[in-house]
Amino acid sequence: MTHAVSPAREAASPTLYGGTGTRRITVRDLTLAKERGEKWPMLTAYDAMTASVFDEAGIPVILVGDSMGNCHLGYETTVPVTMDEMTLLSAAVVRGTSRALVVGDLPFGSYQEGAVQALRSATRLVKEAGVHAVKLEGGERSLHQTELIVQSGIPVMSHLGLTPQSVNAMGYRVQGRGDEAAHQLLRDAKAAQDAGAFAVVLELVPAELAAEVTRSLHIPTVGIGAGAECDAQVLVWTDMMGLTGGKMPRFVKQYANLRATMGDAAKAFAEDVVGGSFPQPEHAFH
Ligand code: KIV
Repeated sequence: MTHAVSPAREAASPTLYGGTGTRRITVRDLTLAKERGEKWPMLTAYDAMTASVFDEAGIPVILVGDSMGNCHLGYETTVPVTMDEMTLLSAAVVRGTSRALVVGDLPFGSYQEGAVQALRSATRLVKEAGVHAVKLEGGERSLHQTELIVQSGIPVMSHLGLTPQSVNAMGYRVQGRGDEAAHQLLRDAKAAQDAGAFAVVLELVPAELAAEVTRSLHIPTVGIGAGAECDAQVLVWTDMMGLTGGKMPRFVKQYANLRATMGDAAKAFAEDVVGGSFPQPEHAFH
């Protein structure tokens, strides 16, 4: 049995966003999008229902980010997220989608020991959760991990600039400022590409540097707080929908205010219950 996509089917999905295609997006589609200069959106998701909304909206790539730590599981940072948590929630996201390419994050501690540990973790996410690719932080420092995972047939997205799993060492600051840091970021991006990564996330990087990295790579860059020249943009869904509480970083554009909408709905329900106006006869069974 062959799984090759026929030219006719390929042509049915000429664009990543807004096209008519229904088949699952592949990493090859992302490479082709870079060649045609097409920009694309990526959102995080941590559960099947949210993922299905984004899939139906045509978001071509969904990241089960370890931002689930602070945006879904109630941790302060991404650091405590475990492979069990990542596997469980990634499987839910995959079940909620039929078109989006689902990328699962390798959580802190699941790949830093070396290439063999990284491959074991990536394999678990692919086999048990069904993700189509994995993401890991670091360029040169994660070179062997990226190489072995890619050679084993699992697509890898690399994550550079601000790498939240290193928050205890680097804090949350713009990265790549100054000549030496900028050169290191370029070296990291090239290292990730040479190791076989299919895309590179650039987080909190000066826009000019992100543009230079984007021009110098043949794989797509996915920006978050990295300016408008990246090939793609990603946002954490709870941030861009206004569900996350507290002050947002300035790179976040808020497209909805779910926190207020949900709070208002909860209060309206509570008032109906307390005041006796819910349930009404049409909500009851006899
Ligand atoms: O975990 C995450 O959501 C991420 C994005 C911010 C890129 O890594």
